[in-house]
Amino acid sequence: MDIIIREMNKFDCLRCKDLTLQMGYHDNLADFDKRFSLINKLPHHHLVVAESLVDKTVVAWMHLEIRYLLVSSFKVEISALMVDEKMRGLGIGKKFLAYAENWTKNCGFKDIFLYSKLMREDAHNFYIKCGYLNLKDEKMFTKNLEKNVMQDLKAIYESKLDSKIENIKIQ
Ligand SMILES: CC(C)(COP(=O)(O)OP(=O)(O)OC[C@H]1O[C@@H](n2cnc3c(N)ncnc32)[C@H](O)[C@@H]1OP(=O)(O)O)[C@@H](O)C(=O)NCCC(=O)NCCS
Repeated sequence: MDIIIREMNKFDCLRCKDLTLQMGYHDNLADFDKRFSLINKLPHHHLVVAESLVDKTVVAWMHLEIRYLLVSSFKVEISALMVDEKMRGLGIGKKFLAYAENWTKNCGFKDIFLYSKLMREDAHNFYIKCGYLNLKDEKMFTKNLEKNVMQDLKAIYESKLDSKIENIKIQ
C-alpha cells in the first residue's frame, strides 16, 4: 500500500476520531479536537497520519511522546498507533514503527517503548514480529477527580514550553 507519513493537522481530527472508535475507545472523544490543538503545540509530542497516495484518505495515525523520567533515561513512548481495520496487514504499521524509531534516534534517544492492553493479542504479535520485547505485564490504577484539567494544562505548557524539539538533546 503506497502511503506518505505526514504531520497530523486539525482537518484530520474527524477521520482520526473514527479510526479511534474502531478500537473501541468511546470515552471523551468529543474533546479529541481540543486535545489535538493543545498536544500539537507541545514540542515533546509528535502526531502523524498515514495518507493513501491513491485517494489521499487518512488510513492510520500515531502519537509519539518523549517521556522525561527521573527514574530512568529519557525515551520515546508510542502513545497511540492505529491502522484502519480495512487496511491492516498491508505494511502500514511496520512503516509507522520505522518512522517512530527514526524520530526517536533523531531526537537523540536510544529507547522506544509502548504499553498495550493484555487483550490486544494481535497487536502483541505484531510488535514481537517487528522486534519488540514484552518486558512486563502491569496493572493500571486510576481515580476520577471530576475536574477538567484542560485549561490548567494549557496554561502550564504555554508558559513553560516554547523550545523546539530540535534543541532537545539530553539522554
Ligand atoms: C497492530 C497494528 C497497528 C498492526 O498494523 P498493520 O499495518 O496491520 O501491520 P503490518 O501490516 O505492518 O504488519 C507488519 C508485520 O507484522 C505482522 N503482523 C501484523 N499483525 C499481526 C498479527 N496479528 N499476528 C502476527 N503477525 C502480525 C505482519 O505479518 C507483518 O509481518 P512481515 O513484516 O513479515 O510481513 C494494526 O493491526 C492495528 O491498528 N490494530 C488495531 C489497533 C491496535 O491494536 N493498535 C495497537 C495498540 S497498542
